[in-house]
Amino acid sequence: MASNEIEAVWASSDYAPTADRLAPIAVDIARRALNATTPDDTVVDLGAGHGHLAAELQPDSRHVVAIEPVARMRDIGIKRFGDRIQWVAATGESTSLPGQSVGAIASNFGSMFCDPEAGPREWWRILRPGGSLIMSAWGVTGFLAEMTLVAQRVFMPGSALPAHMRWGDEAVARDRLQSVGFDDIAFERHSTTWNFNSVADGMRYYLEGSPPTAYLVKLAGDRQTALLEALEQHLREYASPETGEVVTETDYVIITARR
Ligand SMILES: C[S@@+](CC[C@H](N)C(=O)[O-])C[C@H]1O[C@@H](n2cnc3c(N)ncnc32)[C@H](O)[C@@H]1O
Repeated sequence: MASNEIEAVWASSDYAPTADRLAPIAVDIARRALNATTPDDTVVDLGAGHGHLAAELQPDSRHVVAIEPVARMRDIGIKRFGDRIQWVAATGESTSLPGQSVGAIASNFGSMFCDPEAGPREWWRILRPGGSLIMSAWGVTGFLAEMTLVAQRVFMPGSALPAHMRWGDEAVARDRLQSVGFDDIAFERHSTTWNFNSVADGMRYYLEGSPPTAYLVKLAGDRQTALLEALEQHLREYASPETGEVVTETDYVIITARR
């Protein structure tokens, strides 16, 4: 995806409600990255968003680089953690970092948005020999995978999950990493709750707290009503008849690999 399109997608609504949902997983990714490195290593947070993971990567004075292509995201991260972290305006396919200069690349649902060939090639280039990749990505099953298909099929009936969602397929993930030379690949399946107080609360989240969904709705043109109805119907399937609360589980994976 070109930089201006990445900017258009990820700046199209507030991101804070999604960042809050993902923050507990960032803590897990950070712990793994810190275990895989020494305080002398540079550690990268790829697709850093508001910087939750980058902040967790710095229990000591180590050098943390937050790669984030979207100005709206960076501005919030810099305000919160700017003096502790080096923020770089770049994509994960073209980081501008020197070759073999990084001890670990950590990414919480960020690297999954890179081109599946150019991304891994660049990660391999910047990692030092023995350096680690630790990334989370959405699973191919569970609420968010279903929701992705529900939304996409409004435009392309019968279509399959897009490339960024296919990191959740173990064979695909292994192939993407092995093909550029990564070794010691491990693939773990997890799930997390993805709840809303009500269907209306879920719809508000899509329009005001989830940039990719807000972007899709804005771009939907004459399919906008159909898209909103499909998203609402999907939420309704998970709403409790007693309380109206939308109670769901969504699957995610943690993929680790060594250069
Ligand atoms: C779901 S958010 C995750 C943000 C953050 N890691 C977190 O845990 O909240 C995805 C992030 O990836 C960034 N992103 C999208 N495409 C990217 C690319 N090609 N290279 C690097 N980052 C990208 C977006 O701007 C956004 O900040």
